Amino acid sequence: MGTSRMFRIFVVLGSAFMILLIIFYWDDVGASHLYLNTPVSPGPKIPHPHPQQRTQTSRTPSFLSDIDAFVNQFLEPGTGEPTDPVPAETSNQSDKAEERYIPRREWKIHLTPVAAELRERQEQRRKLLQEMCANDSVVFPGKNRSFDDIPNKELDHLIVDDRHGIIYCYVPKVACSNWKRIMIILSESLLHDGVPQRDPLAIPRDLVHNSSMHFTFNKFWKRYGKFARHLMKVKLKKYTKFIFVRDPFVRLISAYRNKFEMRNEDFYRRFAQVMLRRYANQPTPPASVDEAFTVGIHPSFSHYIQYLLDPQTEKEMPFNEHWRQVYRLCHPCQIQYDFVGHLETAEEDAEHLLRQLKVDNVVEFPTSHRNLTSSSWETDWFSTVPVEARKELYKLYEPDFRLFGYDKPDSILNE
Ligand SMILES: *[C@@H]1O[C@H](CO)[C@@H](O)[C@H](O)[C@H]1NC(C)=O
Ligand SMILES: *[C@@H]1O[C@H](CO)[C@@H](O)[C@H](O)[C@H]1NC(C)=O
Ligand SMILES: *[C@@H]1O[C@H](CO)[C@@H](O)[C@H](O)[C@H]1NC(C)=O
Ligand SMILES: *[C@@H]1O[C@H](CO)[C@@H](O)[C@H](O)[C@H]1NC(C)=O
Ligand SMILES: *[C@@H]1O[C@H](CO)[C@@H](O)[C@H](O)[C@H]1NC(C)=O
Repeated sequence: MGTSRMFRIFVVLGSAFMILLIIFYWDDVGASHLYLNTPVSPGPKIPHPHPQQRTQTSRTPSFLSDIDAFVNQFLEPGTGEPTDPVPAETSNQSDKAEERYIPRREWKIHLTPVAAELRERQEQRRKLLQEMCANDSVVFPGKNRSFDDIPNKELDHLIVDDRHGIIYCYVPKVACSNWKRIMIILSESLLHDGVPQRDPLAIPRDLVHNSSMHFTFNKFWKRYGKFARHLMKVKLKKYTKFIFVRDPFVRLISAYRNKFEMRNEDFYRRFAQVMLRRYANQPTPPASVDEAFTVGIHPSFSHYIQYLLDPQTEKEMPFNEHWRQVYRLCHPCQIQYDFVGHLETAEEDAEHLLRQLKVDNVVEFPTSHRNLTSSSWETDWFSTVPVEARKELYKLYEPDFRLFGYDKPDSILNE
């Protein structure tokens, strides 16, 4: 009698103990699982207006980052995006692990702080953007819309690197090949003999500009469906966003030299032939770029400017990215860039930026040995363009001049 009573007490206590054990264990597993997989690498987010904010989000994730982590857990593994290294699950563990092991070097130790003038420069450029976005005398299409109203296809210049928490908006003709190379290296998506490629200049040109190499915002829709906009906004808030710009007129000259003074079949067929037909009295321009170069026919700089000013051009299709205004490519009034580089100060800015992103131990900005289109030649280039056309052209690009602090080119406009 005594033993059966004891037995019953044992069963009850044992069950209660097991249940408690399960509850504790379950809770523990669930929580750590969620925290460990938070996909956002604790990348540098700069500037740090609220130093406590980051530690807070990593310990007790806010509602948004919870959703972010949750959604990413389900969406990322299957899509082949290079996320943080996860343990290999195949039978040949050591083999796999070795392949995926990425040696992480320590952050570079700097004995001197970033020069005050460089920090000041960034401060000024960011402030100028804010002022110009708030100033109603600066008007351009799309300025007043919200981020949600920007169509997906206009977000195709924003390259995202989840590994370091970086977003780069590329502007063609502004060192964009080299910055794209750096984004490829940082994303570690390009392997060389099984280890991530580290040398920017070893990446071939056609690969650099192949959109399959880059994870851009317009691809979010395909991957995340209805979560896309929400995730974009989370990333825009958390990540460091940067952009490089240059004098708008010099950029136009650079695009002309690169696309029409050099043999480029694609640009010849899509644009040069149109310019020749419309503005150069060439009803039947040569069929290929080689033929055209042989007989010495190509659109002049003046024809190119005429093409840009022709209302017909925009009606047919939006400006090609090589001459599309930066405000249309990168939405500087909807996206608050943390770093604004100028090509005119590219080397200093690149060094500052890589250091600020805390990736200067991983990659170096390749120094360019080519001569940049110099602004002192600008007047020569525009000498064949009528003054009226120059003024119209300025109006077309005025927002870029003002947003990024480039002086109105008076010497060109008041001939
Ligand atoms: C695992 O990798 C080793 C070489 O590291 C190889 O010899 C072996 O055949 C592999 N095993 C399987 C199952 O692939
Ligand atoms: C807006 O820009 C104009 C120049 O176009 C300037 O005179 C004015 O002071 C600016 N307004 C503000 C609030 O900064
Ligand atoms: C943008 O809003 C300002 C007032 O906030 C208004 O004056 C301006 O006309 C608007 N611009 C466009 C293009 O809608
Ligand atoms: C881009 O790369 C993908 C695969 O890496 C390839 O299939 C495609 O043909 C490339 N596109 C161009 C334009 O080179
Ligand atoms: C670059 O500019 C320098 C002078 O500024 C000139 O001597 C050199 O020939 C130029 N190089 C090229 C490739 O145009």
